[in-house]
Amino acid sequence: MELLKVENVSKIYGTGDNEVKALDNVSFTVEKGEFVAIIGPSGSGKSTLLHMLGGVDAPTSGKIFVEGVDLGCMDESKLSIFRRRQVGLIYQFYNLIPILDVQENITLPLLLDGQKPDSAYLDELIGTLGLKERLHHLPSQLSGGQQQRVSIGRALIMHPALVLADEPTGNLDRKNSEDIISLLKKSNRKYRQTLIVITHDESIALQSDRILYLEDGKLTGRY
Ligand SMILES: Nc1ncnc2c1ncn2[C@@H]1O[C@H](COP(=O)(O)OP(=O)(O)OP(=O)(O)O)[C@@H](O)[C@H]1O
Ligand SMILES: [Mg+2]
Repeated sequence: MELLKVENVSKIYGTGDNEVKALDNVSFTVEKGEFVAIIGPSGSGKSTLLHMLGGVDAPTSGKIFVEGVDLGCMDESKLSIFRRRQVGLIYQFYNLIPILDVQENITLPLLLDGQKPDSAYLDELIGTLGLKERLHHLPSQLSGGQQQRVSIGRALIMHPALVLADEPTGNLDRKNSEDIISLLKKSNRKYRQTLIVITHDESIALQSDRILYLEDGKLTGRY
């Protein structure tokens, strides 16, 4: 079953002399439960693409369908429910809420959705993320790698159908990276989540079902 369909998506930032074509006519589909890695040089449009798949930014032209629904046809309130319930977005630069502690940041999507945390799952997540000793610390009191792990917890807490991770191990050492990737893969299999990971790490890309290569805003390779 097709979970995601990207149809001729382009994104242009700025106007006139400042115009940047960040994505140029990108098309692909992803099946439910698939694990896809996106690789490509810095500035090739990887984060731009991921933000559009997660409904946090809109294409200049083209369409994105998630479970057959055109994101471009959703109004802002539908889109915010979509982002909260169906998407777990792990940002390259974390985007944690500075005034909330670790536990509050992780459970924020549940709170916004009027749900109570499943304490067994929350404990499991916090344990795997190695954050047990940091639950009541603020983001400013954490290392980069710890903040990255909090953002992963926040992305997984709702069991979203689509997990989008932008360099989720960019600030972690080898051991921590392997733990995080195995957590994402376990979640991908257990909940049949579709997992899309941007990475510069070849060993992560090679664990995926499929690799998409972006260059200058264009999809130039599929492996
Ligand atoms: N808000 C913005 N306004 C203007 N240009 C932007 C904006 N966001 C991104 N760009 C430009 O779009 C292009 C793609 O950026 P993007 O962040 O998607 O690259 P990336 O592949 O994620 O790079 P990296 O590997 O360094 O994270 C770059 O040339 C960038 O300068
Ligand atoms: Mg990026």
